[in-house]
Amino acid sequence: MHKVIYDTDPGVDDAMALLFLHRHPEIDLIGITTVFGNASVETTTRNALFLKREWDIAAPVAKGASVTIDPARAEREWPAMVHGHNGLGNIDVPETVDLPLDPRPAHRFIIDTVRANPGEIRLVAVGRMTNLALALKEAPEIATLVKDVVIMGGNFYVPGNVSPVAEANIHGDPEAADIVMTAPWKVVVIGLDVTSITTMSRSYLGEIAVQGDKAVKQLDALSQHYIDFYAHAVEDGMMVHDSCASVYVVAPELFTTITGAVRVVCGGIADGQTVVKADGRRFPPGDWDGLPSQVVATGIESEKVVDLIRGTILRV
Ligand code: BDR
Ligand code: CA
Repeated sequence: MHKVIYDTDPGVDDAMALLFLHRHPEIDLIGITTVFGNASVETTTRNALFLKREWDIAAPVAKGASVTIDPARAEREWPAMVHGHNGLGNIDVPETVDLPLDPRPAHRFIIDTVRANPGEIRLVAVGRMTNLALALKEAPEIATLVKDVVIMGGNFYVPGNVSPVAEANIHGDPEAADIVMTAPWKVVVIGLDVTSITTMSRSYLGEIAVQGDKAVKQLDALSQHYIDFYAHAVEDGMMVHDSCASVYVVAPELFTTITGAVRVVCGGIADGQTVVKADGRRFPPGDWDGLPSQVVATGIESEKVVDLIRGTILRV
């Protein structure tokens, strides 16, 4: 079993990935930590509790960061045009959900859980990297205790989605992302290079919903606004960004990867750009020397990934 902590900002594609993690038979979802991003952390936490209740998920929810790790950074707008004003595609979600939160802040939940399960935890992070960076700052030794960190974020050989060079999760907190990428732990970076070519059409999701239970029907309903938004970039359907990272946990063979040091540009016109210095490439000395070699996805078997998501969320 893969013991997973899911760090997330639900979020439409976050919700799909959550259902995948919850229903995959080889995954033991042991915690959900929330972060600001697709909406405020109050909203993403409420949404996590809502989905936990609706989908009968046992894992505790711990509320995380509300702002970037560098307090000097100006706040960015919530992307309501992507995920809806409530972060879940404007479906009916109650103002509050009457379920208890874990008493600890998300980064403390991560530290405690990693220490209690040395070598076992797989951190799947699909929002801003703020909680992970806070955990590393407070307890740097967790880097040696985590099995790996699989993130959805960044873009290397394709354009960004919030600027010509940056992807939303990294651009939302570049300093945090640079801390995470350069720490001495294994990071697998599942970025736009692979997630932007992995899509689910409206009719495909609709057909799954017809066959599926209440959870799958809700997923279909909350995805409609997101699919409408994606009409500018996808002929029909939505990019399933966060689910790609979740799939990597159980099916890494569906991805082609390279290895190398990864840095994040912090500030200026390329704010939030991710850069990989592929192992074996020789350059004059630079800010990527002596850093851990991370794993960067450059290829994906999209059809098989989408098929695995379909098969898994249809399991009850
Ligand atoms: C990422 O940004 C968010 O909008 C999605 O949930 C995903 O994690 C894609 O750039
Ligand atoms: Ca997300």
